[in-house]
Amino acid sequence: MQVVRTVTQWRSIRRSLSSQTQRIGLVPTMGFLHDGHLSLIRIARQHCDIIVVTCFVNPTQFVPGEDFERYPRDENRDLALLKQEGVDYVLLPGGDDIYPEGFSTSIQPPASSQGWCGQSRPGHFQGVCTIVSILFNLVQPHFAFFGRKDAQQCAVIQAMTRDLNFPIEIVLCPIVRESDGLAMSSRNVYLSDEERRRALVLSKTLRLGLTLFQQGVVDSQAVLDEGKKQIQTMEGVRLDYLGVVNQNTFKSVSIIQPGNYYIGAMYVGTTRLIDNMVFGLGEAPCSE
Ligand code: PAJ
Repeated sequence: MQVVRTVTQWRSIRRSLSSQTQRIGLVPTMGFLHDGHLSLIRIARQHCDIIVVTCFVNPTQFVPGEDFERYPRDENRDLALLKQEGVDYVLLPGGDDIYPEGFSTSIQPPASSQGWCGQSRPGHFQGVCTIVSILFNLVQPHFAFFGRKDAQQCAVIQAMTRDLNFPIEIVLCPIVRESDGLAMSSRNVYLSDEERRRALVLSKTLRLGLTLFQQGVVDSQAVLDEGKKQIQTMEGVRLDYLGVVNQNTFKSVSIIQPGNYYIGAMYVGTTRLIDNMVFGLGEAPCSE
């Protein structure tokens, strides 16, 4: 595994890789890796000959007042995990290398970025689209892998890739959960034991919504009312949003159809958590 710390070094490596005979896969991350990230790498392995993982805590996707400064970082642990996974290249660029002095370009995110996380975190998806475009141009992968945990991010990246004609196949990967249902997230490390217990209300609420749908409830308002009740009765948590949306446009739907997403975000103490589940499709409500 080669650890690459500068854009210049990476460019010369990339020139030496043959795009004709080798399929290159990109797994972009912000580091502090967990099994959710590692699952993307394992899926990438099934599609690609060369796996490139980037670990870069991207400042431009954090809104003022968010946790950019204290976002968890553990480079040595990340590198050990990536080595175990048989990753070929790890890119760990410095902030100034990605955003040198004078950098002022940004990508206007697509319509699916409006509402939900886009509303609660103004500018977030602009930062995500900008960094992902930079990484796409640097790595020039054939495939790029994203987790469905960040469902709106997936929709935004898919639309951006299509609109800007990046010659890259976007592969969306299932959510990896803890055994009790909590979606894995680097931010879970912020939770105290009590908060960790309270955090479960989000996945439980989403699962309840899927169960209601399986029982024949198709009115999204009824599902949302029930969900809001669940979350509001849990002490120490504050709902950011709950929504039932079309999986591509992220616009609210009033009548739920299989494939629609039940999405939610809430604060447990000061930690913001997001999660989502897919309605219907026949499987048990707790599976992805
Ligand atoms: P980060 O939060 O580190 O996540 C990196 C990738 O791992 C994303 O595609 C995310 O959806 C996926 N992921 C995180 N938790 C997961 C889980 N429990 N199950 C499955 N996949 C999971 O998302 C970002 O970083 C950034 O926005 C990034 C795309 C790297 C741009 O900076």
